[in-house]
Amino acid sequence: MEIDVKLENCIEKLSKRCPDVLREAMRYSLLSPGKRLRPVLCLLGAEALGGSSFNAMANAAAVEMIHSYSLIHDDLPAMDDDDLRRGRPTCHIQFDDATAILAGDALQALAFETILSDNADPLIAVQSGLVLAKAAGPEGMVGGQSDDLRAEKQGGSVEMLHAIHARKTGAIIQASVVLGGLAANATPEELGKLSIYGDCIGIAFQIVDDLLDVESTSENTGKRTGKDSERGKLTFPGIYGARASRDRATEFVEQAISIVDSFGPASTLLKQFARYITNRSR
Ligand code: IPE
Ligand code: IPE
Ligand code: MG
Ligand code: MG
Ligand code: MG
Repeated sequence: MEIDVKLENCIEKLSKRCPDVLREAMRYSLLSPGKRLRPVLCLLGAEALGGSSFNAMANAAAVEMIHSYSLIHDDLPAMDDDDLRRGRPTCHIQFDDATAILAGDALQALAFETILSDNADPLIAVQSGLVLAKAAGPEGMVGGQSDDLRAEKQGGSVEMLHAIHARKTGAIIQASVVLGGLAANATPEELGKLSIYGDCIGIAFQIVDDLLDVESTSENTGKRTGKDSERGKLTFPGIYGARASRDRATEFVEQAISIVDSFGPASTLLKQFARYITNRSR
């Protein structure tokens, strides 16, 4: 995949000042066989608005770096304590906790370096960096992760569950498609629509992730299953049951599809992507 070439280049071009073990841990997690949904979404967002995937490649690489960092930290013993990711030992099992923490930190910084140095247009670079910082930070992904862990111990309401999913997973998925739009010089109105689309499919994505944890196997997903209820996570199937959760995910997907309808035929792939979210089996 083109995106993998870009990601590999970003690791490869790190100078000798980056220690070998750190580079290897970053490469191990970033280039392991994930679905690359966020970079694909970024490129689809750009193409839906008449932009090129070439111009969106820096932003696409950056969202996958943030995603990869979030998974490395999510799997640490202090968080979800997982030993399997993408069918392989998690970063802290393959290396050690400290190396995994630092590989995550490094990927986060490298994401912003990539946005700022590899976008040809400085205004697009700054706007993209701001959108991704907001999505990844305390009001976005990190905030959602914090509440996700707190809810393991304290429980939480349906509103809290929604807010956790919208931030821990939705925020980066939403930013991915908006970053595609930004790279394609989208208008504020178009960006607004991409943003609602991304919010809807982001929540649907985490509902399906919760469902797969209940209904699938680790052979299929490449990560341990059945762990959410074991850890007392606040999840959609935990609160609504599997069937109603699937219905909620489908409603969010339908909403996403209707919001991009005004883009006309250019929205076909974004609509297909939204449908894939609820049909996916891993
Ligand atoms: C897993 O995301 C983590 C969540 C936010 C639910 P993905 O299912 O996209 O993981 P990879 O990138 O394919 O491994
Ligand atoms: C992960 O949610 C969200 C982030 C990494 C930000 P989960 O904890 O449900 O993801 P998996 O199931 O470990 O992939
Ligand atoms: Mg988690
Ligand atoms: Mg987890
Ligand atoms: Mg999960």
